Amino acid sequence: MKKIKTQVGIIGAGPAGLTLALWLKKHGIQSVIIEHRSREYVEARVRAGLLEQNTVDIFEDLGVAARLKKEGQEHHGVYLSFNGERIRVPFGELTNGRNITIYGQQEVVKDLTNAWLEAGETLLFEAPATQIVDFDSDHPKIYFEQNGEEGVLECDFVAACDGFHGIGRKTMPKGSFNEFTVTYPYAWLGILANVAPSTDELIYAYHERGFALHSLRSEKVSRLYIQVPVDDKEENWTDEQIWDELSIRLGTPGWELKRGPIFEKSVTPMRSYFIDNMQSGRLFLVGDAAHIVPPTGGKGLNLAVADVKHLVDGLVAHYKEKSDDLLENYSKIALKRIWRAQDFSNFMTTLFHKSDEHGSFTYQLQKAKFDYIKTSKAYATTIAENYVGLGFEVIQ
Ligand code: FAD
Ligand code: DHB
Repeated sequence: MKKIKTQVGIIGAGPAGLTLALWLKKHGIQSVIIEHRSREYVEARVRAGLLEQNTVDIFEDLGVAARLKKEGQEHHGVYLSFNGERIRVPFGELTNGRNITIYGQQEVVKDLTNAWLEAGETLLFEAPATQIVDFDSDHPKIYFEQNGEEGVLECDFVAACDGFHGIGRKTMPKGSFNEFTVTYPYAWLGILANVAPSTDELIYAYHERGFALHSLRSEKVSRLYIQVPVDDKEENWTDEQIWDELSIRLGTPGWELKRGPIFEKSVTPMRSYFIDNMQSGRLFLVGDAAHIVPPTGGKGLNLAVADVKHLVDGLVAHYKEKSDDLLENYSKIALKRIWRAQDFSNFMTTLFHKSDEHGSFTYQLQKAKFDYIKTSKAYATTIAENYVGLGFEVIQ
């Protein structure tokens, strides 16, 4: 049996696992990553695109932001639309200059993977973790498979950065956490298209026909989403139908949506999920392994990176200062931001999705909120500061 020893055993080479590994290395703490999928699969998986200021700052500190700074697009505001009326929430004056950057998650994953492997560190691909044992002792072990053989990763700590379907959360002792789930009665059909964006900043739109979002990836590639029924399938939609729907929902007088060939289409369900304890002994859950937010507002990846910060703080204090206070409170500290993000993501989701008829009570509340953003700097500030991400000094 293949045997590897390290200080921190990391399951999953998504944004959480890779950021954790690189950050620990910066502090002289060793880790090894095992990843279920192939490198090609992980680097091609299309997901989020919105990076908060905190996340960009962390990647810069880790020395992995050169391409992000060159190819990513910094945005200083966001457009919000309600039945064709479009307004802009500017970040600069409302958030003391904090911004968001648009840069695809798979590009982040490529940059982090390259940095880790170029430093000569270990990342085993196509190596699913099968079991985590002895995490209530000082010598936990992660069993995995690779090329039909069993291996074991012996470590001081296990970081389960293995996403929503990983084994980390399933390994947590029964009764050690409470679970909270909300499923929304709609889904997103997301597309990537070879066409220049029709906007300089993101547009989130409520429309009687449902939500739409115009995001982007580069000068030549646009990323757009529409609200669809929860059980809808991408094959139910022709490219023309998608563009027609986007044009109507995002439309405002004097503006036209450019169309182009669609090269990726997928339906994502919308849910809020989290557990109120993310650790047991020497097992720590990080990122989507412990929580899912609905994508409206782009918080998922950023929350994963924020969890990493708190775990790094705890592990550094353990190894360098022989203090376990931060590690013991990892979950408690991380959950403050997770609750905030759950609330903001839920707010953005319910504000912009159609869930009831025009003129209904729900509709009137949505309209009242939109009208309030237009007239109140305080309300616009609340949205802007949550959207760009609250600093670590604000949520401690
Ligand atoms: P992941 O990125 O899920 O990484 C987990 C890794 O662990 C994966 O590489 C997986 O292969 C690996 N793994 C799993 N099980 C094992 C195992 N047993 N052994 C070894 N490895 C394992 N967020 C947004 O903000 N905006 C969006 O538009 C958006 N769209 C999304 C669309 C989809 C389809 C999904 C699934 C998520 C989306 N998200 C979005 C959320 C965002 O992408 C996630 O929050 C982010 O990927 C979290 O990073 P992570 O590292 O915690 O988990
Ligand atoms: C993107 C996704 C989001 O969920 C969001 O709120 C903003 C941008 C994106 O994929 O670019």
